This record gives sequence, structure tokens and C-alpha cells, in this order.
Amino acid sequence: MKMDANRPIGVFDSGVGGLTVAHALKQVMPEERMIYFGDTAHLPYGEKSPEAILHYADKITRFLMDQDCKTVVIACNSASSVAYGPLRDWYGTEVDIVNVIDPVVEYYLEHLAPAKVGVIGTKATIRSGAYEKKIKEKSPEAGVISRATPLLVPMIEEGFIFDNISNAIIRAYLSDEPLRSVEALILGCTHYPIIKNQISKFYDFSVEILDSAAIVARTVKDLLGEKDLLRRSGDGQKDVFYVSDYTPYFEKISGMFFEEKINLKKLDLWKDE
Ligand code: DGL
Repeated sequence: MKMDANRPIGVFDSGVGGLTVAHALKQVMPEERMIYFGDTAHLPYGEKSPEAILHYADKITRFLMDQDCKTVVIACNSASSVAYGPLRDWYGTEVDIVNVIDPVVEYYLEHLAPAKVGVIGTKATIRSGAYEKKIKEKSPEAGVISRATPLLVPMIEEGFIFDNISNAIIRAYLSDEPLRSVEALILGCTHYPIIKNQISKFYDFSVEILDSAAIVARTVKDLLGEKDLLRRSGDGQKDVFYVSDYTPYFEKISGMFFEEKINLKKLDLWKDE
């Protein structure tokens, strides 16, 4: 049976970070319809155990499959690093599941390896060693410096973005010596593209900063194209953005990415647990 190309793309993250990926998806595929889930009730994922993250990611993936999504994009590094394998094993025959780590690792290997690369991300992502393992597997001589930068997500979710507080925190993390002298930096958290310019500025714009948004959007487009699942035209149906809890900045930050006010709904998937 041929799958219907008009089905939506599901995207999820713990909060606003996945909007960086959602925005990039809309840039390369404006006619696609999207269902987004921001698990703001359980944010930050980066501080949770792998078991807890998998539990949340499983429920959201099943919800997006129930919404008839043709692809589920795990727009979160913390969830990609610990939940992608099990989710792919459980649901991979029913729906394509895309993580945000593999496409960035492939980009690095193709364009930059073995350049000394920094990886910054949440505690969960860095603890998993996902980037380092995947890079070293293909390029054992690559220099990989991984550092957890846990204050960045709450800082962004609280709206501290282009001010002295955010600059001071970014400086404090990146001034750490091995990180200071990298040749490339992977933003291993989908929240970080929101502060990409400040990070580039810290390095005097002389270090290539890899962010997952555009790279992952191209991967998803190629995948849908190969399967003849790209939508030919939009049908006027709006994208839907679900959050598991209202937070003051979700809507505000969404304004950085989408011109129109987003169709935001609260949905607690865990209320019966
Ligand atoms: N945006 C997420 C990531 O890429 C999650 C951040 C968090 O909730 O800690 O890791």
C-alpha cells in the first residue's frame, strides 16, 4: 500500500529547542504540515535519567504516530542520544524516525574530519558519549572535546538570550581551554542555535559552528523524496504546536521563528499515569 504524502511530519523536543529544527523543516519544505510537541512539563531532559527520557519520548512518539505522522523527527539531542535506538527498534517498521545526531556527525565526517571539534550539549547527551563514539568509529584520529553546558537550556527557556547574562554564561563555558581552541564546534543541543550568533562571536567568527537544524531538515527532505512522500502543495491546514505545560516564553520564542502566531495547544499526555 502506498503511503499518503499528505500526512504531517511529527517533531518533538522538551521545549523550544526543537523549533529551530521545525523552522528549518519549513524553510526547505514550506508545503509540509507539521505537528510539534514540546514536553515543557518535563523540561529539561538533559538533567533526567536515560530511562525517564525514553519514557517521555516513547509516549510522544506514539502520540505523533496516532496523529498519522509519516515521519517522526526527534528534534532533541538528549532524546536522540538515549531513546533513538529503542524507538527505532519498536516503531521503525511503522514510521521513519529521524534523530538529530547522525546527520551532523555525517556532515562533520564528510567536510571537516579529523579537525579538532568541540561538542557542547546537555548532561544527558554528553554523558551518553553519542557524538564522540559515532565520530571515532569512522575517524579514530579525530580530536573530540565534549563538554556539558547545562545552564544554557534554562537560560534560553527563561528568555535570557541576547543580554549580559547569556554572554557571561557562554563565555564562562567556552573559555575552558580545550574548548577555546577547537577548529569546529557542534551545537549538540537543539536549543543552542538560538544563541548561535553569540557563540560565533565568542570565537571571533573564525570557527565553523555546526547546528543540527538545517542539516537535519535536508536529511528529512531527502528521506521523504526517496520514498516519494514529499507533499506537492499545501492544503491550508495549519501546523499544530502542542505543549505539555504552558510556559511564558514558548509563544514568545516561537515568534522568532514563525511570522504568524502559532496554533498552540496544551496537552498533558501523562495525566492518566
Ligand atoms: N533541546 C534539547 C536537546 O537538544 C533538550 C534540552 C533539555 O531539555 O535539557 O538536548
